[in-house]
Amino acid sequence: MPEFFINGQPVRAEKNQTVMQAAVANGFVIPYFCWHPQLSVAGNCRICLVEVEDEKGGNWTDIACNMPVSEGMRVLSDSDGVRAHRKAMLQLTLLNHPVDCGICDKAGECTLQDYHFRYNGSPSVSRDAKVRATKYYPLSDRIVLDNERCILCSRCVRFTSEISKSHALGIEQRGDHSLVRAVEDGRFAADPYSDNVVDICPVGALLSRPFLHKARVWYLQGTASVCPGCERGCTVRIWHRKPEWKLTALDPRQNASIARVTPLENPAVNGPWICNKGRDLAKIFERPRAEHAMLKGASVELAAAVDAARRLIGEAKRPVALVSSWGSNEELEAFRNALGGRFASFVKQDCRPAPGEVLEDHLLIRPDKNPNTAAARKLFGDAAPAFPEGTDLVLVWGEGCDFDRLPGGAKIIFLNAYLQPENGHADVFLPLSIQTERRGHYTNFEGVVSAFEPCFPKKASVADAETLFAALAAPVEATA
Ligand code: SF4
Ligand code: SF4
Ligand code: FES
Repeated sequence: MPEFFINGQPVRAEKNQTVMQAAVANGFVIPYFCWHPQLSVAGNCRICLVEVEDEKGGNWTDIACNMPVSEGMRVLSDSDGVRAHRKAMLQLTLLNHPVDCGICDKAGECTLQDYHFRYNGSPSVSRDAKVRATKYYPLSDRIVLDNERCILCSRCVRFTSEISKSHALGIEQRGDHSLVRAVEDGRFAADPYSDNVVDICPVGALLSRPFLHKARVWYLQGTASVCPGCERGCTVRIWHRKPEWKLTALDPRQNASIARVTPLENPAVNGPWICNKGRDLAKIFERPRAEHAMLKGASVELAAAVDAARRLIGEAKRPVALVSSWGSNEELEAFRNALGGRFASFVKQDCRPAPGEVLEDHLLIRPDKNPNTAAARKLFGDAAPAFPEGTDLVLVWGEGCDFDRLPGGAKIIFLNAYLQPENGHADVFLPLSIQTERRGHYTNFEGVVSAFEPCFPKKASVADAETLFAALAAPVEATA
């Protein structure tokens, strides 16, 4: 482990680390645009220039992202000379940049904005007109490119070559006419990881079309959550409006809706990436909700439905339960503790792959499209659902069950969160809360446990599964 010095302070580096890697690992700030810890070194933005003091008293400069650490080297990361270099580099980087931060979605999260403020802060010294480029170039249905803001760092290009491996992006032409463009065979649109380029673009050049101009990022807060889209269980941040920025006019539905989803870096699960399905969690969580308990399709108070379900459970001779693979660890345990002894229980697949959905790949996507199958199977076994002769009651927890395949004549208790035709066909229907309304944990296919937190308050007319299981297990006489 070589020891070297940054600004006179001793730093221990790992073997083969660059100055940038050692600096980041030890809490020193060296600005960067093109460097990314998961990508190869491009060395094209030059903002990470540092000075190295040589033994003869002279100094030389080099880029920290491509300079290996050597024993005893002395690096200056914030000297007057380094600051002058940075200022000059920013003048060059901004030469043709429109500096239109006021209308840019990246404002508030943009490293160019931050470094311009910290190290430059001066208007352009150039008196030449800026070279114009395409302002709104649709790269795909999901992503739009503003070429005037692009600083040609090539992170997006390297991402598609090295991480998603779609090789979908490149840079065409030369000099100040250079443009990022997608290969014309549509493979960028088909890349299931394409939206990661929006995160890693250090400026506001690559933007999410669903999120475009929807909110300034400082109106939003990110809540830690877990993507339920497959058994990988990527950790994510679900972004929604801060209470102090709630809308009172315009469209107040935005106050309780998901603005965007970004990865929450987790080396044990997903690193810094997620797939596009994880970005689209609003499509899962913002489906129409089932908000009323029902008895054979007729709305009733929740308490009346719970009573009816409890009676059915009390009377049943051979009850079977189909347990949700979307239940949290806490809910699964609550079911086992409250009702596990009463039912023959089988784990059910709530979600199956949608037509055309990527089943499995080299990076993250897994074939089982449910987040907690591993925990459910640990508690309830991995036998396929079966209905012994004489099954007279089936408790179905969660969606994805074909009621036509349930034993004829058996009563059905159905617990579900979304508005679906089956709800009205159950003898008793109980409406559930969803993941964004409660906290809990999922266990992914490798046994890694991840936590999710509530983003929005629970609707008053629905119940948490844990509460319902405890209520269903109470003796019928208790409420008589
Ligand atoms: S679009 Fe963004 S990530 Fe891609 S080269 Fe330009 S600045 Fe870099
Ligand atoms: S890989 Fe699976 S868990 Fe991760 S974001 Fe995609 S769907 Fe969600
Ligand atoms: S970060 Fe080192 S050259 Fe770009």
